[in-house]
Amino acid sequence: VRFREPADACKRVAAEIAALIRQRAAESRRCVLGLATGSTPIRVYRELIRMHREERLSFFNVVTFNLDEYYPIKPESAQSYHRFMSEHFFNHIDIIRSNVHLPKGTVELENVSGYCRDYEELILRSGGIDLQILGIGRTGHIGFNEPGAKRDSRTRLVRLDTVTRNDAVKDFGDLDRVPLLAITMGVETILQARRIRLLAFGEHKARIVQQAIENRISSALPATFLRGHRDAQYLVDYDAAQCL
Ligand code: GLP
Repeated sequence: VRFREPADACKRVAAEIAALIRQRAAESRRCVLGLATGSTPIRVYRELIRMHREERLSFFNVVTFNLDEYYPIKPESAQSYHRFMSEHFFNHIDIIRSNVHLPKGTVELENVSGYCRDYEELILRSGGIDLQILGIGRTGHIGFNEPGAKRDSRTRLVRLDTVTRNDAVKDFGDLDRVPLLAITMGVETILQARRIRLLAFGEHKARIVQQAIENRISSALPATFLRGHRDAQYLVDYDAAQCL
């Protein structure tokens, strides 16, 4: 779906999320959201915060799972996704903190694989993700599933692509300070969400959006796997759609 402005796409996704939260609340059920970081979804969070303040949208029944986190990283560090999510979203709404889940960047290396299994287990036990928000990296990654990630991958420790690390220099200041690793939900984890909404804005995303939609479905470009999902939508602005 094409939008004139990124703000229009973000409002659409926020409205869809709000409707889902309210529908579930009316049935006394929980709503499980898969959340993403990066500059792209910030406006979705801003719109949801506005709805919380002005339209009494409550997040009391909402459970969240974030896609990924750098590894190793402390939650309080300026570049951590824990910090990002608190500042851009959780600090401004009435979500119950124990319902918020992000992969931990501080787990001991020898415990990471068990930790990742537990994260998967938690998602399952919560009833599975109702709606997953995604961005897309210039390598075609979703979460931190870089080229080479398998269709059946689960939450795990991964090595970041050089392109991705270079894109992260803007946050870390220096390539040497960008972590080499991350913990990310796998492709399979993402595909199990009942709805997937991928947002991409700007000229710099045009080429990768085109490839994600037109290239052969393969690990070479993990975002192509979304085409096998029955309710995955791309919401892009005119700039990101210019190669289609
Ligand atoms: C990071 C995140 C991805 C995100 C990507 C794009 O790599 N792990 O989830 O999609 O950045 O970021 P931006 O939205 O700032 O372009």
